[in-house]
Amino acid sequence: MAGLRLLRPQGLLPNPLTTTRTSVRPTKLGLRAPASQVQQARRISGPYGYTSAKALVFSEYGEPKDVLNLHTHSISPMLPPSSVLLRTLAAPINPADMNTIQGVYAAKPPFSSLIGTEKPSAIPGNEGVFEVVSSSSPTFSKGDWVIPKHTQFGTWRTHALTPADTLIKLDKAGLTPLQAATVAVNPSSAYRMLRDFVSDPTPMREGDWFVQNGANSAVGRAAIQLGRLWGYRSINVVRARPTPEATEALKHELLELGATRVVTDLEFESRAFQAEVADLTSRDSAAADGVRLGLNCVGGKSAQAMTRVLGRGGTLVTYGGMARQPIELPASRLIFKDLRFFGFWLSRWADRNPAAKEQTVHDILSLIREGKLADAPVVEVPWTWGTKAEELRGAVQRTLDGFKSGKGVFVFRDT
Ligand SMILES: NC(=O)c1ccc[n+]([C@@H]2O[C@H](COP(=O)([O-])OP(=O)(O)OC[C@H]3O[C@@H](n4cnc5c(N)ncnc54)[C@H](OP(=O)(O)O)[C@@H]3O)[C@@H](O)[C@H]2O)c1
Repeated sequence: MAGLRLLRPQGLLPNPLTTTRTSVRPTKLGLRAPASQVQQARRISGPYGYTSAKALVFSEYGEPKDVLNLHTHSISPMLPPSSVLLRTLAAPINPADMNTIQGVYAAKPPFSSLIGTEKPSAIPGNEGVFEVVSSSSPTFSKGDWVIPKHTQFGTWRTHALTPADTLIKLDKAGLTPLQAATVAVNPSSAYRMLRDFVSDPTPMREGDWFVQNGANSAVGRAAIQLGRLWGYRSINVVRARPTPEATEALKHELLELGATRVVTDLEFESRAFQAEVADLTSRDSAAADGVRLGLNCVGGKSAQAMTRVLGRGGTLVTYGGMARQPIELPASRLIFKDLRFFGFWLSRWADRNPAAKEQTVHDILSLIREGKLADAPVVEVPWTWGTKAEELRGAVQRTLDGFKSGKGVFVFRDT
């Protein structure tokens, strides 16, 4: 969690709800627009310029519905040197955030009392986009859009006060808050995994094949589209939906994004499909190595089946474990197929390669502006000053359900 101790306990201030809050906003014509349209307005402030802020926090690990609390606090207008006061515009709810709250994620967030919580607490949220409210750093000006440089920033909060060197400034032209909020983790992971793991005897070339499970995830959708842009062909594995029509609709969606083939996990594991892959990848000389790369975010039988279609010397990159099942492999896959296995963790890669991380984000945002990368579907979770803790907790907990229509993203309005 980034943050500086510059707070006053909320009890010392008059109730901010009685000060400047309103749910409608006068327009230039003197008419009033619904609060839902007022994304950039700042309505809540205390006396002497103190900013009233709220954050989801947890002080012990567990299910989000049981451990998340909404904490209210105030931030002083007197910024320390080289610091920035931010207002959150949007912040997604990613699987890693859930694992962090459950206490099963590799990185444990620091628990602190920096924002005045009764017990040392952490603010969840690895990514999001913020608007600069005020800055004591020459690098940032009011109105700039920024994203955190590192994961574990704690983005599920209305405001943040943070050292300037924890932020990356974005060129916000042509971007929506949702696009900016979701660029740092999932599309960046897809980008790096497609680029960084295959080198022997050559890097991935136009015409090469990759295979991935969880293909309808935000990472999977980005991989399909980046793969298409770079000339790669893709086999995409999804879980069947509750009805055949819904499964077909999902397949169609991914084909529209640029997927070469989309199959359900059952179809993928069938002998018929394994034979089809052998046929597909041996039709032309560019694919002589068979499927060269596999991206695995599921594990268990799904990952095992991927190793069956990988060509000789193929690479499996594991970056998630949604099925929570270990990967079992026959020895022959290692001995005779000479497969290579790697793990990818964006946080570690970004800490080691900060400049490359920034470049990756800027590259992806350029592709988005050029209309070459479509947004992954999202389910907006509005967060206004009046949003109750139960609503936020419920929205977070529901992201653990399967077959979601889109990624949950907090969209901050009137905070
Ligand atoms: N290592 C890294 O640095 C890194 C970076 C980014 C993401 N990730 C990981 O990548 C994965 C995808 O993240 P995301 O944010 O892109 O996901 P997302 O958009 O939230 O989508 C979740 C995906 O997981 C699938 N899924 C959920 N439960 C499953 C289960 N029990 N068995 C098989 N599939 C299941 C979903 O399939 P349905 O639609 O069928 O439910 C969907 O494809 C996660 O595991 C995440 O932790 C890792």
